[in-house]
Amino acid sequence: MHIRSGTKDDAEHIAELHTRSWLTAYAGIMPASYLKGPLLDERKAMWSTRLATVASEPDHTRCLLVAADGNALLGFAYLAVGTDGRILLDNLHVQPERKQSGIGSQLMYHVFGWASEQHPGKTVHLEVLRDNAAAITFYRRLGGHPTKEFMERFPAGFELPVVEYTWGPDVVRILADNRSTADRLVS
Ligand SMILES: CC(C)(COP(=O)(O)OP(=O)(O)OC[C@H]1O[C@@H](n2cnc3c(N)ncnc32)[C@H](O)[C@@H]1OP(=O)(O)O)[C@@H](O)C(=O)NCCC(=O)NCCS
Repeated sequence: MHIRSGTKDDAEHIAELHTRSWLTAYAGIMPASYLKGPLLDERKAMWSTRLATVASEPDHTRCLLVAADGNALLGFAYLAVGTDGRILLDNLHVQPERKQSGIGSQLMYHVFGWASEQHPGKTVHLEVLRDNAAAITFYRRLGGHPTKEFMERFPAGFELPVVEYTWGPDVVRILADNRSTADRLVS
């Protein structure tokens, strides 16, 4: 397994993984009627738009990281610098059948690596559904701190409680150092 930068050629596989991950992780959290909808088509459109220009020009404001084993996509993380200067980890997903084998941790170490190299001194934050207990356990184990809780209104019309987790610049730098050993932990 290795971590590499994603390109527009990854868009279709990322959309599929993203959809499968939502259907698995958010069953019982998001309305079933919504999860039965056109999630895959929406994500295909979203990722083809998002990745149309990624890697075709130097861009220090956003980053797609892909965990791969040969041609197989095992997971991905997408992050971007917000208007407030903080770094938002917008998406993090691992193939459902490969969860809890260290892939998510490795992606996070590379997220922290990109943040500390491209934007030293900045915090990293994300928003997670309050009922996504597995992800919250994962983020807390990685040293994330809850910094805000609020109701988020989704474009489909429903609302769910969301928690913001944050990593300060010192922690970001320390966790980035786990990258080199992390890649050797999972085969
Ligand atoms: C959350 C997610 C990215 C974590 O990735 P992962 O590869 O499964 O996590 P790791 O194997 O690196 O786990 C590291 C640690 O996190 C904790 N953890 C991870 N998944 C857990 C779970 N389901 N239950 C409890 N603890 C969990 C464990 O402490 C684990 O350490 P251990 O294996 O030594 O016990 C992944 O499970 C996922 O894709 N979930 C569905 C999508 C999602 O919720 N994404 C986040 C949206 S905000």
